[in-house]
Amino acid sequence: EIGDAERGEKLFRQCAACHQVGQGAKHRVGPHLNGIFGRKAGTVDGFTRYSEGLVRAGNDGLVWSLDKLHAYLENPKYLVSDTRMNFAGIEKREDRADVLAYLRQFSDN
Ligand code: HEM
Repeated sequence: EIGDAERGEKLFRQCAACHQVGQGAKHRVGPHLNGIFGRKAGTVDGFTRYSEGLVRAGNDGLVWSLDKLHAYLENPKYLVSDTRMNFAGIEKREDRADVLAYLRQFSDN
């Protein structure tokens, strides 16, 4: 277990302005986040508004492992300088771990 998924569900509120996850999740400002673990960056089916930078990062080999998700959520623009995800990041490692534990429930990987 990588964190506290129940606590992560509450922390996910700061993501929910732009992202949905779970049964029936739809694309919003950002792509839905079902199945994000182990996925090549910038490849969720049907999301047409990715930045060039995120698509390029995926083509260059960025795959959403736990470590890469930690890095992106800590500081999105540090990992992908021209990402379109307009979010300051989650400073505390424990908080990121909890959000990621929550998200992992909706991934097979
Ligand atoms: C992309 C997670 C907050 C808008 C992504 C991706 C992840 C993610 C994993 C990569 C998706 C992919 O490669 O298919 C999260 C989490 C958040 C959060 C866990 C909260 C902690 C937000 C917020 C916004 C947002 C608040 C809107 C202000 C976007 C957009 C993209 C994106 C537009 C596409 C980025 C691009 O194409 O460069 N998010 N996000 N996200 N997110 Fe978020």
